[in-house]
Amino acid sequence: MPITTGSFPHSRMRRMRRDDFSRRLMRENTLTTDDLIYPIFVIEGENTREAVASMPGVDRITLDILAEEAKQVAELGIPAMAIFPVAGDSKKSDLAEEAYNPDGLAQRAIRAIKAAAPELGVITDVALDPFTSHGQDGLMNDEGYIMNEETVEVLVKQAVSHADAGADVVAPSDMMDGRIGSIREALEAAGHINTRILAYSAKYASAFYGPFRDAVGSSGNLGSGNKYSYQQDPANSDEALYEVALDLQEGADMVMIKPGMPYLDIVRRVKDEFKAPTYVYQVSGEYAMLKAATINGWLDEEAVVMEALLGMKRAGADGILTYFAKDVARWLKKA
Ligand code: PBG
Repeated sequence: MPITTGSFPHSRMRRMRRDDFSRRLMRENTLTTDDLIYPIFVIEGENTREAVASMPGVDRITLDILAEEAKQVAELGIPAMAIFPVAGDSKKSDLAEEAYNPDGLAQRAIRAIKAAAPELGVITDVALDPFTSHGQDGLMNDEGYIMNEETVEVLVKQAVSHADAGADVVAPSDMMDGRIGSIREALEAAGHINTRILAYSAKYASAFYGPFRDAVGSSGNLGSGNKYSYQQDPANSDEALYEVALDLQEGADMVMIKPGMPYLDIVRRVKDEFKAPTYVYQVSGEYAMLKAATINGWLDEEAVVMEALLGMKRAGADGILTYFAKDVARWLKKA
């Protein structure tokens, strides 16, 4: 060990821990409201909130309510919101054309947030799963394989349509190869030179996405299908660094690791290796676990959520996408 340590009793680790002032002085990491991204599920209709059964406290909301939410989120000081559209069955197809409809639900949601709270950053999900009849993130061939280049073509149209509608950040969560470079080129060509790309670079094929798929209604369509041919194997770590390197080279401004808690070793490695803006997604299954335990009175909600998020900061995350964002902002205000 390079540090010269004293031996007991010259060194007593508990001296610094004795009082609040010295605990505060030696604190290495903090969680602030600036670290938060608030995800939201949007639906068609008016004045409606639909509860998501497997995510107590999370609702799917219509665009009029979204405008109110956006104002609230901005007032709480949260920097950005991430939009996830829930498309009806009539909007789903084999070619996912609805993904780039200039008047689609996501595109209208962007405009609604920008009108209500212009200073709030708007992040959009670039992937086809809300709009494919089979619930996969891309276009499928006859053998059930998700086709890469054909999918990227649609993703590019989707990303540009989001930027046209006013999105500040487009976030490809599809895991196709080469999509960051293609989206970057298309954004430049369309004059969207400052649209940021948040690449879900290391997105694992995780069972923790279950409640999200219920929320967006893709689980039924996906059935027993899986995403192993494009999302990463949870067993791998070097592969995540390779993915991040490619995405940064192709023009990503920010990179995402997903899920969060079981993958904090990846966050640390990515941050150490690349020093790029690094984000972590505390996904729906993580939310559901914490919520289930706290609703049952088995864990203290504020304490465990704050500890879980601080752990993500300690691992190297610059920001965290979390369904708890509004609660966290309130807890931080109160403190
Ligand atoms: C889809 C997408 C998923 C999530 C975000 N975008 C699900 C998936 O890949 O199947 C999961 C988020 C969560 O679980 O909270 N492209």
